[in-house]
Amino acid sequence: MTLISQNIDEAKKRLEGGELVAIPTETVYGMAANAFDEQAVKRIFAVKNRPFYDPLILHTSSLEKIASWQLVIPQPLNVLAEKYWPGPLTLLLPKTKFISDFVTAQLPRVAIRIPNHPMALALLEKLNFPLAAPSANPFGYVSPTTAQHVKQHFEGKINMILDGGDCDVGIESTIVGMEDKEVVVYRLGGLSLEKIETLVGPVKVKASSSKPDAPGMLIRHYSPGKEVIAIDSQEELNAISIKQTAFILYDLEKPEVHQENLIHLSRNASDEEAARNFYRALQHWEGRSDIRRIVIQRLPDFGLGRAINDRLKRAIGK
Ligand code: TXA
Ligand code: MG
Repeated sequence: MTLISQNIDEAKKRLEGGELVAIPTETVYGMAANAFDEQAVKRIFAVKNRPFYDPLILHTSSLEKIASWQLVIPQPLNVLAEKYWPGPLTLLLPKTKFISDFVTAQLPRVAIRIPNHPMALALLEKLNFPLAAPSANPFGYVSPTTAQHVKQHFEGKINMILDGGDCDVGIESTIVGMEDKEVVVYRLGGLSLEKIETLVGPVKVKASSSKPDAPGMLIRHYSPGKEVIAIDSQEELNAISIKQTAFILYDLEKPEVHQENLIHLSRNASDEEAARNFYRALQHWEGRSDIRRIVIQRLPDFGLGRAINDRLKRAIGK
């Protein structure tokens, strides 16, 4: 039995005892464990079926705690931290003796973030260790944005899900670090490139060469047998038959589609609303054998549209 509860003290007690607890964040749900407890960290990899070469993000509640583990935030990343923490920003910092090689997969840096979710923050404030937490999905599947999504995969496999409602941002954090004196974005995510560049100037994007999940895994593994087709224009959309097909659209229209086979990510063309709805939409037709393929409209390539398009690219393996 997996307990779904809003009891923060219960979550604290279990985490202190070395158990796994799925926790809400503003981006997606995380599969959390005490980052300073190697056995607990190993349990994360086991339950997610995650390879040990894929490093974990540490979550905590304050810059003071980060400094207490002797982690130093270099210029100009400290400017980002001050403005966007708590928030959907993960920083790669040179690791220290406090951080285990299991967490970083032997890499020289550690990923850290302060999430912006009231329950997560309340929990983290009560803990004297950081929480290692990858997204709470089996390796290669779509990230969960509700407690129910977590339960679908991990019922009976973990003891507790801390239920913090629907995730507000809906896609994973943006991962940022330094190479020489240059700011580098390693994963596009919930904090837009534009917001980052406003503070630190032009950055280098290396997002496609990072390997969070192998390309093509996202939807194929999640909904086996469903083909994913990305489209850009009304003309392309018009040419597609509605037979056995579901549609995830942004601002285009397909009037002949039955309502139950159509999701509009945002009625008022908001990239933030689209991000919030994206993973939920991908999971919507799971188990519907009459739906053979999903047609998804690409978003304009700015703001969170970039991050959504990046996930879409991985989903179709191109
Ligand atoms: O929004 C998020 O970031 C969510 C929530 C739960 O905080 N977490 C998340 O974790 O998306 P995960 O495990 O699904 O993605 C972590 C990715 C790794 O796959 C890797 O690409 C990068 O972060 N990463 C973590 N530690 C790293 C390190 N030491 N060096 C380089 N990349 C690292
Ligand atoms: Mg993940």
